[in-house]
Amino acid sequence: MKELPIWDQTLIEKYNVAGPRYTSYPTALSLTEGFQQQDLLSAMASATSRSLSLYIHIPFCSQLCYYCGCNKVITRHQAKADSYLDFLATEIIAQAPLFKHYTVEQLHLGGGTPTFLTSTQMTRLVKLLEQHFNFSAHTERGIEIDPRSLADNMLVNLRDLGFNRVSFGIQDFNDAVQLAVNRPQHADKLKQLITQARQLGFTSINADMIYGLPLQTPSSFKHSIAQLIALNPDRVSVFNYAHLPERFAAQRKIKNADLPSAHDKLTMFKNTLEQMLDAGYQFIGMDHFAKADNELAIAQNKAELHRNFQGYTTHQHCDLLGLGVSSISLIGHTLLQNHKDLKSYYHALNTTHGSAINKGVHLNSDDVIRAAAIKTLICQFELDMRAFSQHHGVNFNHYFADALTAIKPLIADGMVTIADNMLRVTARGKLFIRIICMCFDAYLQQPLNSTRFSRVI
Ligand SMILES: C[S@@+](CC[C@H](N)C(=O)[O-])C[C@H]1O[C@@H](n2cnc3c(N)ncnc32)[C@H](O)[C@@H]1O
Ligand code: SF4
Repeated sequence: MKELPIWDQTLIEKYNVAGPRYTSYPTALSLTEGFQQQDLLSAMASATSRSLSLYIHIPFCSQLCYYCGCNKVITRHQAKADSYLDFLATEIIAQAPLFKHYTVEQLHLGGGTPTFLTSTQMTRLVKLLEQHFNFSAHTERGIEIDPRSLADNMLVNLRDLGFNRVSFGIQDFNDAVQLAVNRPQHADKLKQLITQARQLGFTSINADMIYGLPLQTPSSFKHSIAQLIALNPDRVSVFNYAHLPERFAAQRKIKNADLPSAHDKLTMFKNTLEQMLDAGYQFIGMDHFAKADNELAIAQNKAELHRNFQGYTTHQHCDLLGLGVSSISLIGHTLLQNHKDLKSYYHALNTTHGSAINKGVHLNSDDVIRAAAIKTLICQFELDMRAFSQHHGVNFNHYFADALTAIKPLIADGMVTIADNMLRVTARGKLFIRIICMCFDAYLQQPLNSTRFSRVI
């Protein structure tokens, strides 16, 4: 069992600045245009993994949530999904043969809203994937679900299609907050769905919440977290609302005056932390909690946790193939991203024989070493400097001289310790893991002042 994080108000006031979420290193902001299928082929030539994590992006949603920062297309026209599946089929048929020596360990459908698809469309997609990729009997199959728009028999269909994990977007139970973000939903329906998911045998039930939304107060959110805990999900993500209206037009519909103050936001997260820990959840890191007997908590305790674009995961050694509009892949040491808007995605597939790759970055040897250090810290909260040096053929103290200088103030403030070749994040430092990782990030020119990321708490 890991040490519980400690809330230290003085540190919070000093260090609550913006920073990357490190679902990758370098972050997606480092991707540049001009990448194409040939870059995937070169990446595959030097990749050593034979295990695949497959991500499929379904961009459609039937209604706009004003806070949303995801890549989505709002529509009520179901036929748009048929055309999308036609293009996705072209991409699958072109790309899957390259991965015939891989076994799919993990399939994740994200969005947008994957359950925008009808049962017929969902079946078509899964059958297509099964026909072209090698799935094992143990493949983890997960899907993001918007509980408001779920067809009556969808959970049963998903189970029949082999899905064993579900993630429900809840965000908040409070009626006024739901109205302010244009996402009204009924708590009773959600309760029914979670009960049904358990009865059907889904082995992991995740729920997404957001704090910092308009009209939320510390007491209203405390009540929402209590309602969430009563539903007993296995994992919970409590995201910090990233309000970036200059990037996401929908967020301009949110009135600044309705947003909770910085102080209230912090109180909400503090309360959430206490409520979740009291309810027996383990703090996995940043915004993520899992029941102590959940595989994420077990993996963290065994130092086997991993992090990718979907967040924390137990699949350590997989290459990641992302298909669909805006999807990101990580093959060996190359990050690749498909075109982000539907028109360009469709155009690319029409003109390039099934590839929609547009952006990317080849990790150089420094990126690979820094990525390993950041991932170890973000997943385990500690790093064995001697073992790291041996594994990567570097002298940690020399190689990371810049990082070890940058981290000194954090050591002085009791957030990190270095002793006997172990770099450890203390209970006080856990909430600032993003700031600690930023010391190892060679791309940050002004580490503590970046406005392109959300605040760490
Ligand atoms: C693709 S959505 C989940 C599936 C489905 N579309 C839904 O909303 O239920 C992914 C999650 O991202 C989170 N999210 C979206 N916009 C966000 C923002 N601006 N700040 C923080 N979290 C956000 C929400 O918690 C949401 O559940
Ligand atoms: S939060 Fe989910 S349902 Fe709402 S707009 Fe974003 S992706 Fe769509």
